[in-house]
This record gives sequence, C-alpha cells and structure tokens, in this order.
Amino acid sequence: MRRILVATRCLLFTLCALLAAAPAMAQPQEVPEALQPYILPDAGPFLPKDLGAENNEAIAAWIGSAHADNASEAFRHWDDEGEIAPVCSVCHSGAGFRSFHGLDGSDPGLPQSPIPTGGVVDCATCHGTGLTEVKVVTLPSGVEHPVEGVEAACVTCHQGRSAGADVEEATADSDPDTVDAALRFINPHYKTAAATWLGGYGKAGYHYEGKNYSGRFFHARPVATCVSCHDPHGLEVKTESCTTCHEGEGPRAFRIRKQSYDGTGNTAQGIQADIANNADLLLRTLQDYSAEVAGVGLLYDGHSYPYFFADANGDGVADTGDNGRPVNYASWTPRMLRAGYNWKLVTADPGIYAHNPHYALELLHDSIEDLNSALGRDTRAMGVLR
Ligand code: HEC
Ligand code: HEC
Ligand code: HEC
Ligand code: HEC
Ligand code: HEC
Repeated sequence: MRRILVATRCLLFTLCALLAAAPAMAQPQEVPEALQPYILPDAGPFLPKDLGAENNEAIAAWIGSAHADNASEAFRHWDDEGEIAPVCSVCHSGAGFRSFHGLDGSDPGLPQSPIPTGGVVDCATCHGTGLTEVKVVTLPSGVEHPVEGVEAACVTCHQGRSAGADVEEATADSDPDTVDAALRFINPHYKTAAATWLGGYGKAGYHYEGKNYSGRFFHARPVATCVSCHDPHGLEVKTESCTTCHEGEGPRAFRIRKQSYDGTGNTAQGIQADIANNADLLLRTLQDYSAEVAGVGLLYDGHSYPYFFADANGDGVADTGDNGRPVNYASWTPRMLRAGYNWKLVTADPGIYAHNPHYALELLHDSIEDLNSALGRDTRAMGVLR
C-alpha cells in the first residue's frame, strides 16, 4: 500500500477557512497517518471503515468525474495498441504524468517508453509526493509558467498542444489570401482551460500584428486558481462560491460588463452568450471566406477528426472521396488558417467565458475583423466589439 503526503490538510475548521481564502495552495505539512489521502491501492486497505470519511468522500466524488471515467475516448483511444505513446501519456494517464514530472523516481521529461493503457487521472496524479517541487510548467508556446501546489497538475494537462506561434510559423511568409496546399488545420487539442486562462501571456492564440492581448485572467480575490472554482475531485464548478460577487442562474448567466459585444445590444444575457454568438459569427464568416476567396466551401464536423471538410459544390454536404469518406479540407489560405485556429481554440474550452472572457472576445473580434477585411465587410458596423 502506498500512502502519500499531500498538500493542504485542514485539521481545524478555522484553518480550513483560512486556506480556502488563501490565493494559492498551502505548502505540504506532516499530517497524522489517519488523515493522509488514500492512493488507489496495489494492496489494501480496501474497507471503507479503514479509509476514513475524508477519503471516502474524495473517492465518491472522483469516481463520478471525468478524471475517473475509464470508458471515455480520452483514456480508451489507445486500446488497439495496448500502450500509450510517451508524448500522449503525460496527460492521458496518471503513470505518464508522474514519469514526465519525475515523481516516480525517473528523470523528468517524456517517459522513456510507452505507458500501458488502463490508467486514468488517479489519486497519485495530484497527491504524489514531489508535485509541490514542480515549480514551472512549460506551455506549448515555450512560455515557462511558474506554478504552485496542485496547479502544476492542472496546468500540465489542460494547456493544449499548440500555440499561435505554430500557426505563425506555418503561414508567415505566404500571401494571406492564396491557397497553400501544404497547409493543414492546426488543432489546439481539447479542454484547454489553462491555456485560455493564461491568455495573451500564455500565447495559446494566434495574435494579430499590432493588437494587444489581455494576459492571465486574475479575476478577483479569493478566486485565484483552478480549484478556487472547481472541486478537485468531482470537478464541478462550486457555484455557491460565486454568489458573493455574481448574480444570475448559474455561471452562464453571469455578466459584469455593461457593453454588448455581439451586436445584439443585449446586456441582460450572460457574457457566455456574447462569446458564443461571436464564435458562431466567426465560423460563418470563415465559411463565407472559404467559398468566396479560397474557392472551396468549408464544413465543420466536431465529431470527426480533422473537423474541417471540403464542400466544393456548396450543397452543405461534405464532398466524398474515392474511399467514400468525407474529403479533408485542403484549401487553406494563411488568413483562413489563423482564424480557424482561433475559432477552435475558443470553442475547445467550454469554460472560456469564466477562464478568460477578455482573451476570448479579443481573439474572436480580431479573427472576424481580419476575415472581414478580405470580404470588404465592416466589423464595427456589425456591432462586434473587442
Ligand atoms: C497537454 C496534455 C495533453 C497531451 C500531451 C495530449 N492530450 Fe489528448 N487530451 C487532453 C485533454 C485535457 C483532453 C480532453 C479530454 C476530453 O474531454 O475528451 C484530451 C482529449 C483527447 C482525445 C479525445 C477527444 C474527444 O473528442 O473526446 C483524444 C483522442 C486525444 N486527446 C488524443 C491525444 C493523442 C493521440 C495525443 C498524443 C499525440 C494526446 N492526446 C496528447 C490532453 C492532452
Ligand atoms: C486532479 C487532482 C486531484 C485528484 C485526481 C485527487 N485529488 Fe484529492 N485533493 C486535491 C486537492 C487540490 C485537494 C485540496 C483541496 C483543498 O485544499 O481545498 C485534495 C484534497 C484531498 C483530501 C483532503 C480532504 C478534502 O477533500 O479536501 C483527501 C482525503 C483527498 N484529496 C483524497 C483523494 C483521493 C482518495 C483521490 C483519488 C480517489 C484523490 N484525492 C484524487 C486534488 C486531487
Ligand atoms: C494527468 C492529466 C490531468 C490532470 C493532472 C488534470 N486533468 Fe482534468 N482532465 C484530464 C483529462 C484527460 C480529462 C478528460 C477526461 C474524460 O474525457 O473522461 C479531464 C477533464 C477535466 C474536466 C472536465 C470535466 C467534464 O465533466 O468534462 C475538468 C473540469 C478538469 N479536468 C479540471 C481539472 C483540474 C481543475 C485539475 C487540477 C486540479 C485537473 N483537471 C488536472 C486530464 C488531467
Ligand atoms: C472563475 C472560476 C473558474 C476558474 C478559476 C477555473 N474554471 Fe474551469 N470552468 C469554470 C466554469 C464556469 C466552466 C464552464 C461550466 C459550463 O458552462 O459548462 C468551466 C469549465 C472548465 C472545463 C470544461 C468542463 C466541461 O464540462 O467540458 C475544464 C476542463 C476546466 N474548466 C478546467 C479548469 C482548469 C484546468 C482551471 C485552471 C487553469 C480552471 N478550469 C479554472 C470556472 C472556472
Ligand atoms: C470575490 C468576487 C468574485 C467571486 C467570488 C467570483 N467572481 Fe467572477 N468576477 C468577479 C469580477 C470582479 C469580475 C470582472 C473581472 C474582470 O473583468 O477583470 C468577474 C468576472 C467573471 C466573469 C466574466 C463576466 C464578464 O462580464 O466579463 C465570469 C463568467 C465569472 N466571473 C464567473 C465566476 C464564477 C463561475 C465564479 C464562482 C466559481 C466567480 N466568478 C466568482 C468577481 C468574482
């Protein structure tokens, strides 16, 4: 059996209150054996009475969460091969994660060999000794972000897999409106909450020349880190904690800003709606541009990688190739790839409206504006704000 010391243990109610209000997680401390978190076992104890109430509660919440869902694509994708490539294992298995950060005694860095399938985001992912020693997480942009406590874990796995710089590198020297057959869609990956949260500073998005981008979303004290809002085990948003500062039926109804960003003039809706509307507008604009400028219509299918398909005859149905499968979109221009990447980044994070509404609105506005410049449309007249 492995028992592992963890960060923050709330021994007294008053201490708990203080820790809850602290901007970052407290440092690890020696705790009595009885209160140490239980790591999913190789061997016992297995009986609930031996685990203690705290562990039982944590297990019950975790078991129902996406992190424990071993039936999901995020953990089953490698079933055919029976092993997970090192580069994927870092985020798709607790063992890969531990190897990457050297928490299993190996040298930090990508695992030396593939990791067996079957792992999930298990207890020891966040409760492994040594996690608190991880002080920096490098983002896909190369930015080295200082982290504290469990944030090291969340930021490692929810940072996405590409950055605006990858899009820049692919498109830099080409004419913006000329189709480049060598261009392929660049996918930011999924549930990129930490990347969007860090905003312009983390450089996940494609940043248009001459524009400034908001940095990390500091929100307001005591909201400081992922677990200020998310339960670390159940992962749900602790909405009760929001109501000291926000009004409305749940986070999607929250709004602080007095301006309308989506041209509707509606400032009664949550900021989530402005962002969703501008994302829809961006996709429609991208499709108009594809037909008018790139010459081949574009369709999006979120259930089918690589998500963008060709519709040359504009009938709203993806063209099919000789193999009977939809034809991947291959008529990208640089302008289109930049906007398509930003659109996917914003929509790949369903919580972006809370993680960083500023950055979301900026990326959407600038992408729409850039496509509009080629279509001869006036963004300001549409009422789309940044
Ligand atoms: C930086 C961390 C990270 C890395 C590295 C990573 N992924 Fe993911 N991946 C995630 C997260 C987070 C999700 C979100 C899971 C979800 O909700 O489906 C995800 C989701 C997925 C999904 C499920 C998508 C869906 O539609 O449900 C697949 C498939 C996937 N990744 C494949 C890969 C492959 C293949 C690699 C290696 C080439 C890889 N990932 C590397 C973090 C990562
Ligand atoms: C994604 C990261 C993560 C995973 C996975 C995780 N924990 Fe935790 N756990 C935390 C964090 C963060 C805290 C500290 C919470 C706080 O201070 O508010 C915590 C606190 C605890 C506590 C103290 C009581 C409490 O709820 O605050 C126990 C016990 C615990 N975890 C057990 C477990 C067990 C058992 C598992 C596996 C079933 C597990 N944890 C999986 C992040 C995680
Ligand atoms: C080892 C990588 C890893 C770590 C560490 C990790 N996550 Fe995840 N997270 C994932 C993957 C993979 C999924 C998707 C799982 C699935 O689709 O079943 C996910 C899903 C989620 C979800 C989506 C829940 C849902 O219902 O779809 C939330 C919220 C989340 N994580 C928050 C966090 C927070 C907060 C932390 C830090 C306390 C954290 N994660 C740490 C990999 C990780
Ligand atoms: C201000 C509170 C807040 C903070 C801080 C926060 N989140 Fe979220 N998160 C939310 C809200 C609200 C949602 C969206 C819930 C919805 O509308 O479905 C969300 C959604 C998510 C999702 C997608 C869940 C799903 O159902 O697909 C993931 C993954 C996630 N957050 C991870 C993180 C990580 C990792 C961090 C830290 C880098 C973080 N969050 C910080 C509030 C927060
Ligand atoms: C201590 C007060 C406080 C708490 C608690 C708080 N927020 Fe906020 N929230 C703010 C402030 C202040 C802003 C505006 C910050 C800014 O734009 O710089 C904001 C902005 C937001 C926005 C964007 C609104 C807009 O119009 O741009 C969302 C969404 C949001 N918070 C969600 C949440 C959620 C979800 C929670 C609870 C999990 C939460 N907040 C908890 C103070 C708080």
